[in-house]
Amino acid sequence: MESMIRDVNLAPGGQLKLDWVQAHMPLLNLIRSGFEREKPFQGKKVTICLHLEAKTGYLATVMQAGGAEVCMVASNPLSTQDDVVAALVKNGIHACAWYNASDEEYHMHLNQALDFHPDLIIDDGGDLVSLLHSHRGDQTKEIIGGCEETTTGILRLRSMEKSDALRFPMIAVNDAYSKYLFDNRYGTGQSVWNGINRTTNLVVAGKTVVIAGYGWCGKGVAMRAKGLGARVIVTEIDPIKAMEAIMDGFSVMTMEEAAPLGDFFITVTGNVNVIRKEHLAVIKDQALLANAGHFDVEISKGDLGAVAVSKRTVRNNIEEYVLPDGRKVYLLAEGRLVNLAAGDGHPAEIMDMTFALQALSLKYAYENQGRLENKVYPVPEEIDQKVARMKLDTLDVKIDRLTEEQKEYLAGWRS
Ligand SMILES: NC(=O)c1ccc[n+]([C@@H]2O[C@H](COP(=O)([O-])OP(=O)(O)OC[C@H]3O[C@@H](n4cnc5c(N)ncnc54)[C@H](O)[C@@H]3O)[C@@H](O)[C@H]2O)c1
Repeated sequence: MESMIRDVNLAPGGQLKLDWVQAHMPLLNLIRSGFEREKPFQGKKVTICLHLEAKTGYLATVMQAGGAEVCMVASNPLSTQDDVVAALVKNGIHACAWYNASDEEYHMHLNQALDFHPDLIIDDGGDLVSLLHSHRGDQTKEIIGGCEETTTGILRLRSMEKSDALRFPMIAVNDAYSKYLFDNRYGTGQSVWNGINRTTNLVVAGKTVVIAGYGWCGKGVAMRAKGLGARVIVTEIDPIKAMEAIMDGFSVMTMEEAAPLGDFFITVTGNVNVIRKEHLAVIKDQALLANAGHFDVEISKGDLGAVAVSKRTVRNNIEEYVLPDGRKVYLLAEGRLVNLAAGDGHPAEIMDMTFALQALSLKYAYENQGRLENKVYPVPEEIDQKVARMKLDTLDVKIDRLTEEQKEYLAGWRS
């Protein structure tokens, strides 16, 4: 198949990026060696829809080492790195993506990646699965199974499963311990601030940061905001998460109360219109708005556009909106995931674990073809444990093992 990419001549720069992450993904390197020997995907086609940058690119080469023919497509047009895409194509991987693709181009790329007729898929946010089920129903029977990367995608899959709409099995990679405890918390925690800091080049210490959503990602973003010296306010809709934020030392209030106080606002809820017109009516002058949730729907761009009297780009990835009374607010990366659209995403060492889960879970889906129903499955516990254990090995960290006496003690109930 023909790749659809910006410029293949960008490949040397992209190859350097691939080499850099490979050097920092020891677990994936081990899996790659195993795949090279066993060729678990020999003769199969895999379409991977992820943020198209170096770490995901390296995952694609690992699947290729396992015998698969691979096609990559972007899960978000603003996180695509054209040089990495070019390097992948030079490495024999098909790709349909370029940076800043329009909506129309983005959908053309997704369709092209499905014209490849994959047997197995990896999705991030559910766009590939959704397109398969809504517009390419006949093709769903060709799909043996797949893996989903993120919280938002799993929510969509579960609602498809509930209404009996899902036509092939999907593994919920996000819900593995080895994923969300590290990727969502420490990965998002670090990379969101990396994206905001490199985009704004403004100080965080002494400022007030409002974080909407105290889930796994929100906890990481809050933890790192505190480390940078900010006062942190959390907004939540779940009373337990709100209590957790309080016990972690943060203030909790409604968005309406927080709006006039915050210097930075970061939404990471997976929900829609978390910052909207009633908040814009009272928001602090010069507030910076960033989103880290999967879709660009958490900060209402519709409301921003409707209430603003003017809008201009003031810096790469920063749009200034002037409100009727002269207050200004700044939207980062068009409200798309700030760590990917205005940064390089999570650190390679973190994605090492996540992509190890992806590679092993897809192998599991393939090997269990015919045994899995059209449902959303958790990552098997053995794979979750194995990934954590292998990661410890790469860090040369040893842990204790249960003695026979301890096993017996834990399994017993008599005092
Ligand atoms: N930026 C990244 O790199 C990255 C990484 C992983 C996940 N994600 C995405 O981030 C989002 C959150 O993921 P998560 O794993 O933290 O999910 P989560 O389910 O653990 O947490 C989401 C939290 O948001 C809260 N929430 C929902 N609606 C809210 C509202 N209106 N106001 C305030 N709080 C609200 C929920 O109660 C929950 O505590 C998802 O869209 C996920 O796909 C992004």
